[in-house]
Amino acid sequence: MSLCIVSTKKNRLMNRRPWMTGLVLISAWAILGVQTAQAADDEAWIEYRQTVMSAIGADMAGIGDILKNGLPLTKNIEFHATAIATNARLVASAFSQRAENGQTDALPDIWQKTDAFAEATDEMREAAEQLAAAVAEGNDAQIGPRVKTLGKSCGSCHKAFRKPKKDSYKNK
Ligand code: HEC
Repeated sequence: MSLCIVSTKKNRLMNRRPWMTGLVLISAWAILGVQTAQAADDEAWIEYRQTVMSAIGADMAGIGDILKNGLPLTKNIEFHATAIATNARLVASAFSQRAENGQTDALPDIWQKTDAFAEATDEMREAAEQLAAAVAEGNDAQIGPRVKTLGKSCGSCHKAFRKPKKDSYKNK
């Protein structure tokens, strides 16, 4: 620590003024404390944005379950899609803090190419709204293609802004 590298001259000074040693110690603790708080803060942000993404993932999986197995729950697709559009509105704030210390697959570009990240979020929201509209209008022929468009919006953002699967924290 910095205490170890102070010159002998300074050491003598500190012996004469014990309060200075105290001051150095207090500053060191303060700095360490801030770093610990920062890590805890990062984990909280990471956890929250992953919760938001997981919710989006669960609604997407629900849509997949209905279509894949031909469940007679077409109307539910509207609600899942609406939920994705709603959760899309949480994405910008969930990623507003640059938090990288922890178990995360977020890539630094999120905080460098902020316009592209915002555009990718809008793309998902619009695709989800379009899907909800197809169901609401009884436009069944458009459900499949719009699910595809929605899925593509996930994939293109993940490709640009999320670590590839092989590097995911989930495999560590
Ligand atoms: C604007 C960019 C963006 C869009 C659009 C997007 N994602 Fe994500 N998603 C991310 C990022 C970044 C992560 C990694 C977050 C982390 O680990 O901190 C992620 C993580 C996830 C996760 C893993 C969450 C976890 O617990 O680690 C799931 C599931 C997911 N996304 C599903 C989806 C689905 C489904 C869609 C489309 C309907 C979608 N995402 C659209 C950026 C996006």
